[in-house]
Amino acid sequence: MLRIIEYPHPTLRHVSKPLKRVDAELHAHIRQMFELMYEAKGIGLAANQVDLPYRLFVVNLEASPDSPETELVFINPVIRQRKGSEEAEEGCLSIPGLYAPVTRPKSVIISAYNDKGEELTYELDGLPARVVQHETDHLDGVLFIDKLGPTGQMSVRDQLDEFEIQYSQRRSSGQVPDDESIAARLAELESLRC
Ligand code: CO
Repeated sequence: MLRIIEYPHPTLRHVSKPLKRVDAELHAHIRQMFELMYEAKGIGLAANQVDLPYRLFVVNLEASPDSPETELVFINPVIRQRKGSEEAEEGCLSIPGLYAPVTRPKSVIISAYNDKGEELTYELDGLPARVVQHETDHLDGVLFIDKLGPTGQMSVRDQLDEFEIQYSQRRSSGQVPDDESIAARLAELESLRC
């Protein structure tokens, strides 16, 4: 059973490794990532947000299980081109309730494998371009809050402090494992499929 982990869980800072094996269990994980994303009313979810160390994310801009035809799976994605610049508000399922404006390239060309093993290239602009950049950042251990300017950093500080206090309380009470156990589990999962 997967669940969405929240800031400042250390797996959100993990730099994920490319997948070499996509087996039945991973297909089941992908299915569950879509379900968790829909429950949380999100449009994108990266593997390390469900505590998996793989270069994989899922997207559905319709944010609904009623639109399976717009589901996209990105395995080992590579952003090949970035153009322009645009500011828009972002949020993240791992930092629920926190929103801030982020400046990013306006359009991108991204290649990735889908869950059928086909390599596809997408030219994206606006919101879809923003989503795949946000999710690709996750795979490199980068969160959208890292991309805020000094004023933006200041405006989210209190909320982040609150997340940090709650996480350290959960860890003290044994509800989340210690950092060493988390790292050992990620290493084991990597050795299985990367
Ligand atoms: Co996110």
